[in-house]
Amino acid sequence: MEMSIERIHQLRKALHAHNRHYYVDDKPTISDAAFDRLLDELIALEAEFPDLFDPNSPTQRIGGGLIDQFETVSHRRRMLSLSNTYNKDELDAFMDRAEQGDNLLWDCELKYDGVAIALWYENRVLTRALTRGDGQQGDDVIANVRTIRSLPLKLPDDAPDDLEVRGEIFFTNDNFSALNDRRESLDMPTFANPRNAASGSLKTKDATEVSKRKLSALMYHAITSDQPFASHATAMDQLRLWGFPVPSLDKRWSEVRVGRSDVHAFLSNWDEARHQLPFAIDGAVIKVDSMAEQEALGFTAKSPRWAIAYKFNSEAALTVLNGVSFQVGRTGAITPVAHLEPIWLSGTVVQRASLHNADQIAKLDLHVGDHVWVEKGGEIIPKITKVAADKRPVTAEKVHFIDFCPDCGSRLIKNANEVQHYCDNDLNCSTQVKSRLAHFVSRKAMDIDGLGSETIDQLVSKGLARRPSDLYNLTDLQWRQLGQFKEKSIENVTKGLASSLKIPFERVLFSLGIRHVGGTVAGMLVEALEDMDTLLAADEPTLTAIDGVGPMIATSLAAWLQVDSNVNEVRRLSEAGLLMHGEKKLQPTSLVLAGKAFVVSGVFTDFTRDELKASIVAHGGRVVGSISGKTDVLLAGKGMGPSKLAKATQLQITIINEATYQTWIGSTD
Ligand code: IVH
Repeated sequence: MEMSIERIHQLRKALHAHNRHYYVDDKPTISDAAFDRLLDELIALEAEFPDLFDPNSPTQRIGGGLIDQFETVSHRRRMLSLSNTYNKDELDAFMDRAEQGDNLLWDCELKYDGVAIALWYENRVLTRALTRGDGQQGDDVIANVRTIRSLPLKLPDDAPDDLEVRGEIFFTNDNFSALNDRRESLDMPTFANPRNAASGSLKTKDATEVSKRKLSALMYHAITSDQPFASHATAMDQLRLWGFPVPSLDKRWSEVRVGRSDVHAFLSNWDEARHQLPFAIDGAVIKVDSMAEQEALGFTAKSPRWAIAYKFNSEAALTVLNGVSFQVGRTGAITPVAHLEPIWLSGTVVQRASLHNADQIAKLDLHVGDHVWVEKGGEIIPKITKVAADKRPVTAEKVHFIDFCPDCGSRLIKNANEVQHYCDNDLNCSTQVKSRLAHFVSRKAMDIDGLGSETIDQLVSKGLARRPSDLYNLTDLQWRQLGQFKEKSIENVTKGLASSLKIPFERVLFSLGIRHVGGTVAGMLVEALEDMDTLLAADEPTLTAIDGVGPMIATSLAAWLQVDSNVNEVRRLSEAGLLMHGEKKLQPTSLVLAGKAFVVSGVFTDFTRDELKASIVAHGGRVVGSISGKTDVLLAGKGMGPSKLAKATQLQITIINEATYQTWIGSTD
C-alpha cells in the first residue's frame, strides 16, 4: 500500500512534467504511447485508492464528468477591458500621455481573440478559474479549465502562496476546424468562429467533452501580493519558468520596444504576418513595462491608463446606402443611422450602420444611393468607413444632418466642444421622456417590475407620468386608467415601487440618466461624495478631482446639477423615499489640510497614489487633477515628469515629499 501511494505521487509528478514539456515547451520527452501507459497506470491506482483523490491530478485533464452548476465568484480585482484604437495617431497620443516626455519601455503583444480567464493559485494549487463575467463577478469554470493541458494545475515550490494569473483561452485554427468537422459529422450545429467555440466550450457542462476539444491558452497578466514583479516582461519570464504558456519570444509574439516607430513596426509587421499565425488575433496590445509606472498611471473607470489595444482593420464589404434616419436617445443625443442594402459580413447580415454624428456624415460626404464600404470593428454595430465616390449615381442626393428634433420638432443644439447634436427639450420630447422612464425602471437601474415599454408609452401619452417621481405618486384610480391594468398588475407595480426604496444610492444616481454618468461612474461619485446634498453642492473642479471622473463627465454632471428642474426632481424622489446617501459617511479624520488644493504625482513608497488622495480628503484637503495657479501643494513622488516640477516651481507652489506629508498629518495613518 505504501508503495502504491508513493507510485501515485510519482506518476502524477512525472505526468505533469511530460504535459509541460509537450504543451508548453513544445519539446516532448516521451512518446505518446508511453505517456498513455503511465496515465492508464495512474487511473487504475486512483480507482483503487479513492481516498487519494486530487482534483488537480493529471487524470482530471480528461474531464471529471458532468458539472452541476458554475459557481459565481467575485473577482479579487475587477477584470477590466482595454481601450481600443484603430489608428496610429490615437496610439501615439496614448503613448504621449503615458510617457510625459520620458522614454518608457513598451511591451508589445498580440491580442488573442478568445475568452479572458482569471486563474487563482492558492498555495501553488489551481483553486479557481473565473470568466470575466461583468468584470466584478465571474463564473468558476475550473473543471473545464483543468482539461487544458498547457495550463499548470500545480506550481513549483518557488512560486508564491498567492498568485493570480490572467490570460486568454482560445482555439487554434486547426483545432477549431477539427471540432467543427466532428460536429458536422455528428449532425450537430457548428460554431460560427473560434471565439464563439471557446466561450461555448468553457460554459459546457460536460468536462469530458471539453477535454476532447483541445483548447489553448496564453497568459498576459500576473498579480501577486507576496513579491510584486518589477516589470511586465519579468513577470512573463517568471510565469514561463513556473510552467505557464506565455507568448513565444523566439517567434516574436511578444517584444519589448522603445519609442513610437519601433512600436509601429511591431504593429505593421503583425498586421501582415497575422495570417500565418496558427490562431486568430484581432490586434495587438501595447503595455507600459514598468510596474511602478503602471501603478502611477492607474485606471479610468473602464480600463487601465497603461495599456491600449490596437485593432487591425477587419473585413469590409461594399453595399448601397438606401437612406439615413435619425434617432433620439434617452439623453437627447441624436444618432444618425444608415439603412443599407442587406449584406453578409463576418458571419452576420448587416442592414444598419451607425453614423455617429454630423461630422461623420460630412467627412464621408455621404449621398443616398452611394456605394459604401462597411466594416465591423470590435463593435457589434458596423460602421461606414468609406464611400466609393466613383460609383455615385448622378441623381444621388447629399445627406444633410437635421436641424430639428424628429420627435418634438425643437431646434437641435450642439455644444462647441462636443460632436453630438442634442434635443434639449428634455421635459417635453416624448421619446426622451419615455426612454428616461424606461431607463429608470430598468433592471440595472431601479429594477421596478411590471412596467414594460407599452405601459410607459401609455402613462406618457395619457399624461399620467412624465418624470420618474410621478410613478411614486400615482393612485390606484390612475393606474386603472391604463386599459390592461387590473388588480394584479397594480399590486405588482406597487410592490416594485416600494422595494425600489431600498435600492442603494449609487443606483438611484445612475437611474437619473445623467449624460455620461453610467453605473461605474455613479459608484465612484458615491464613494467620493457620499450623499446627494454633497453632490448638489459640488462644482466642476471638485468633480474633476474624483478618481474615474474625467472632464467630459464633470462638465456634463455640473451642467445637469445647474438645472432647476433636475434639482426639483431629485427633491421629489427624495420625498418619495428613495435613498439619497451612501452607506458609510466618513467624517474627515482631521482638518489640518482644510482649504489646501493638492496635486499628487509620481510613485510613492508607503502609499499608493489612491491612498494618498483618500488621506488628503480625510484630512480636509482637496485633490485636483493638474497644476495651476490655484494649486497650493504638489505632493511629489519618484519618477514625476520634469515639466510638472518646472511648472510648480514657476508658480511658486509648495512642493513636498511623502515624508513631509506624513509629518503634516501627524503620521496618524
Ligand atoms: S492585457 C487590464 N493582453 O483583450 C487589462 N489582454 O479588451 C489587461 N486580450 O480582456 C488585459 N490578448 O481578454 C491583454 N496580450 C493581451 C491580450 C489581452 C487578448 C484580451 C483580454 C482583455 C481584452 C481587452
